[in-house]
Amino acid sequence: MFMTAIRVEALRKNHGRFEAVKGISFEVAAGEVFALLGRNGAGKTTTVEVLAGFLRPDGGSVRVLGLDPSAERAEVRRRTGIMLQEAGFFPDLTVAATVDAWRGFTAAPRPRDEALELAGLAGRAGVRVRQLSGGEKRRLDLALALLGRPDVLFLDEPTTGMDPEGRAATWETVRELARRGTAVLLTTHYLEEAQRLASAMAIMDRGEIVASGGMAETLAARGGRVSFRLPAGVEAADLPLPVTVDGDEAVCRAEDPDLAAQTLLSWAAERGLRLPGLEVRAATLEDLFLDLPTSAR
Ligand SMILES: Nc1ncnc2c1ncn2[C@@H]1O[C@H](COP(=O)(O)OP(=O)(O)O)[C@@H](O)[C@H]1O
Ligand SMILES: [Mg+2]
Repeated sequence: MFMTAIRVEALRKNHGRFEAVKGISFEVAAGEVFALLGRNGAGKTTTVEVLAGFLRPDGGSVRVLGLDPSAERAEVRRRTGIMLQEAGFFPDLTVAATVDAWRGFTAAPRPRDEALELAGLAGRAGVRVRQLSGGEKRRLDLALALLGRPDVLFLDEPTTGMDPEGRAATWETVRELARRGTAVLLTTHYLEEAQRLASAMAIMDRGEIVASGGMAETLAARGGRVSFRLPAGVEAADLPLPVTVDGDEAVCRAEDPDLAAQTLLSWAAERGLRLPGLEVRAATLEDLFLDLPTSAR
């Protein structure tokens, strides 16, 4: 069943007279990880804060699990988990005491150990919050966001400050939650993270969505590239496909990079040539970003 967990329609939100979000629309299904991308100031956090019920829209509408987050805030909060960009903890409490305090505010919370385990903090229960690394604080925040077994999870730059191991562990947790049906709205600066985790995305720029779609479809449509060093005596014009040459590196952009590589290799084989350093690469989110107008990156 396709259930829309988050629906954003023509959302507008101003901070004073500043238009931070200028009429954006997107949907996130149950069990889907959706990445909201864009440089600082694009309007990502403002969007998350509207969805979480902290801010009221100035135009358009948002629904979370079919509910209006500003009018039905208590119900929305009960069924959602949120990891904000800036978490506030009491530095002198231990990890365990922090989770316990939070469990007190949560209906039917997970057991403390389960939450810590899910967030990769199993061995840190007795440590004071101020002694945690930046990445561990993010994980503690994740543990709190997970406590109420939410149907919707908002993760605003969840892995900032994490080491690669912590990041990988967080990805695994997010994937597992999505597999069990949680809808995840993720903002991140790490394009690789978004590409690996999310099945759909929207790129925001100055309050507007400038690109969006399914991750796999969008990347496939962007095409890929084949690169290699030009063999001695070969010129770009000799090749069977158009390439751009930079120094001795030739790059062929193609809708289907595997097919392009085959064409180039057969051409070379027929002439007894090799194409040294041949590399076939599908498009990445980074390529997609580089295609955007400079202002949006
Ligand atoms: N409370 C606020 N008051 C005034 N301007 C704000 C406030 N919060 C955010 N802004 C501005 O709104 C824009 C979008 O901010 P934000 O939603 O935090 O973007 P992002 O999360 O994509 O970096 C930025 O230009 C930011 O300076
Ligand atoms: Mg932000």
